[in-house]
Amino acid sequence: MNTRVVVGAQWGDEGKGKVTDYLAQRSDLVVRFQGGNNAGHTIEAKGKTYKLQLIPSGIVYGESMNVIGNGVVFHPGAFLKEKETLEALGVEVSPRTLAISDRVHLIMPYHLVLDRLKEAARGKGDIGTTGKGIGPCYTDKYERCGIRLCDLLDPQVFLEKLERNLAEKNAYITKILGGEALALQDIAQEYLSYAEAVRPFVRETSVLLEEAIQGGKNVLFEGAQGMLLDIDYGTYPYVTSSNTTAGGVAAGAGVGPNQIEEVYGVTKAYTTRVGKGPFPTELTDELGEHLREKGHEYGTVTGRSRRCGWLDLVIVKTAARISGLTHLVVTKLDTLAGLDRIMVCTAYELDGRRIDYVPASLKDLARCKPIYQEMKGWDDSIAHARVPSDLAPEVRDYLDLIERTTKVSVHITSVGPDREETIEMTQK
Ligand code: IMP
Repeated sequence: MNTRVVVGAQWGDEGKGKVTDYLAQRSDLVVRFQGGNNAGHTIEAKGKTYKLQLIPSGIVYGESMNVIGNGVVFHPGAFLKEKETLEALGVEVSPRTLAISDRVHLIMPYHLVLDRLKEAARGKGDIGTTGKGIGPCYTDKYERCGIRLCDLLDPQVFLEKLERNLAEKNAYITKILGGEALALQDIAQEYLSYAEAVRPFVRETSVLLEEAIQGGKNVLFEGAQGMLLDIDYGTYPYVTSSNTTAGGVAAGAGVGPNQIEEVYGVTKAYTTRVGKGPFPTELTDELGEHLREKGHEYGTVTGRSRRCGWLDLVIVKTAARISGLTHLVVTKLDTLAGLDRIMVCTAYELDGRRIDYVPASLKDLARCKPIYQEMKGWDDSIAHARVPSDLAPEVRDYLDLIERTTKVSVHITSVGPDREETIEMTQK
């Protein structure tokens, strides 16, 4: 077996795109298993910048097969737009390079409207969603009224389901949320026009994956978002609506859990998050501002500025437990360069007790006081490091602390956005 999962070990935006890209070069198949076009993966390769939201990262190479698994929520319009953008950059997006499960749930126009209106209705308690209709689409999936890609390919079934859904959604939109009703004809016309463009990509992706795994191919499962945005183990309700942890692979791609060999968790050398909710190690002073500027901490999808703070190993340790991490990847070590001292949170204090897990209650999490270990900083020369021996002793101490606290070894570090600025820690 040659299967790997890459998941975010924090609140998303850990630099998974770069790591996935790095591993994707050796992968025959790259698979998305959850989320939708709320994800933003930036890849710098061949002197170009590729911004992916829905299509797996392996597409950039033209050699691997990319799979949008059943656990993904799929906006056909967003997909076709992303396909066009990639093709303009010279990337092949064809049935040779991409397969889409016909079980994916479709993000419909009313999901986008509901996402926006429900956020507005939440007022100060809004979640800070990406506004892509993700939550409302997954809601319909579990409510068992969702429309799947296989339905879109059968116009009669699609129209029946659309009619039933839209009557209900329009009533909710107009009567409860004070919005405007959507027109059936407009949606039907738009979506049916997508059907023929998407049809050639549709495959029974679970069977495709089984054959690939049995055939000894390298398969990479590409997670989106991060540990603390997981619907079960994240900082609920400030989470996304899917399982972002490695457990999501089995259900979201249609493979058995025993088919997963290695699990890579990606963490930044510090912590960031977008959206609302408690953040124990947040830096609200000029140091936080400095990290935001130096690390270009602005969202790929929404452009929102990210909140920044010290590395919180309680979170990474939790990710190690929930996702069964076998490898760690530490990104953006260069952003911390130039600081005299760096703090790392190794546990929380809650009501006089020391805990090393993320509590379920947000009230409890907001009361958690980080217990910090102070570390010595390093200078900007780290950006030129290419092999482990180039790393200053202070950086090695920092990585050692991460390994000791999480009990997972650091296999890859990254000191800049380019592919060459990646260090495999096992090389000499
Ligand atoms: P949704 O996924 O649009 O429903 O947003 C729910 C929460 O997940 C919000 O806090 C978003 O900011 C966050 N989120 C969703 N996708 C990403 C991502 O790719 N990176 C970071 N945060 C994300």
